[in-house]
Amino acid sequence: MSVLFSPIRLAGLELANRIVVSPMCQYSADDGCANDWHLVHLGMLANSGAGLVVIEATHVERHGRITHGCLGLYSDANEAALARAIASARRAGKAKFGIQIAHSGRKGSAHRPWEGGAPLKNGGDPWPTIAASALPFGDGWHTPAEATEADMNRARDAFVNAAQRALRIGFDAVELHMAHGYLLHGFMSPLANKRTDAYGGSFENRMRFPLSVARAVRAAVPREVPLGARITGSDWRDGGLTPDDAVAIAKALKAEGLDYLDVSSGGLAADIRNPSERGYNAAIAARVKREAGIPTRTVGLIVEPEQAEEIVSEGQADMVSIGRAFLDDPHWAWHAARALGAEVARPRQYERTGPKLWAPAAKG
Ligand SMILES: Cc1cc2nc3c(=O)[nH]c(=O)nc-3n(C[C@H](O)[C@H](O)[C@H](O)COP(=O)(O)O)c2cc1C
Repeated sequence: MSVLFSPIRLAGLELANRIVVSPMCQYSADDGCANDWHLVHLGMLANSGAGLVVIEATHVERHGRITHGCLGLYSDANEAALARAIASARRAGKAKFGIQIAHSGRKGSAHRPWEGGAPLKNGGDPWPTIAASALPFGDGWHTPAEATEADMNRARDAFVNAAQRALRIGFDAVELHMAHGYLLHGFMSPLANKRTDAYGGSFENRMRFPLSVARAVRAAVPREVPLGARITGSDWRDGGLTPDDAVAIAKALKAEGLDYLDVSSGGLAADIRNPSERGYNAAIAARVKREAGIPTRTVGLIVEPEQAEEIVSEGQADMVSIGRAFLDDPHWAWHAARALGAEVARPRQYERTGPKLWAPAAKG
């Protein structure tokens, strides 16, 4: 019996299996609004066999986007456009839909990756950014302004407003982006946060703003709707966040009432590279799961079905997030089910692709 294909419950949400499509920016929105690309993309993923699809980093304010193409939930137009895309995707497939809400911090005001990903210059309509400290993301990057209390209050309210918009759209789960060097991770990391006020210095101080966001969003999201966060398992740099910190962050977020965590890592500065081995965050996730005692997901080079099965059956994590493998094979979970002797829900239109197609009698 496959553990990967066994159901799991998060707060009031029952997922058919432990496979999650990882949030992946499409850089294809119009001033934060989803369009036909998202209709097709999300419809495709609704039919991927994953129990949950977490849609791309969706930014809580216009200046909190990464690029001009990033999705947002900061306007009525954004909300209407995303509602249309999600309604369409739900008609296409059976996956549940979660949303990652995010603020880019010092990594904002950048070109799309296929335009090189560099910071926007004059002529490219750049915008001012905020961060824990006035330290650029890398060489040649703009210097963000150190966030004031007013900035923090505005950003926190924006997270709450975006969560409320997400609930109106009917998302099944809400996830806070607290990793990959964006605003909230930047506050947590001693490498990006050099503040000398109540928001910098000790672990407790560096967590103050991110935890206040978690608390405010939790108050807005009903208990039956799972609220999670993607956190960093390691900054992969001396002096940065470590797996010990990830455990402490997880305990603090659990105390704020979060229902699950997704352990990722890296992305804090332009010159940091992630490890390149399969499942590179899984051992850190195992510690978070064991020591913080919270439903845990992990991500990072999980590619083969057997590898995903091993991670959940050995109890390293309760769920796996899979990113690039789903873009490569949008029916990844159908094929994983076949490899692991399990089944997934298929739309009626595609039912004839079920196990019969692969049964020995159908061959030869
Ligand atoms: C095109 C692309 C866009 C991404 N956008 C996001 C994002 O919006 N939010 C996020 O947390 N991670 C994002 N990531 C990281 C993935 O969610 C995932 O953590 C990473 O790709 C490692 O998993 P994988 O090896 O299964 O792809 C993105 C990755 C890719 C390839």
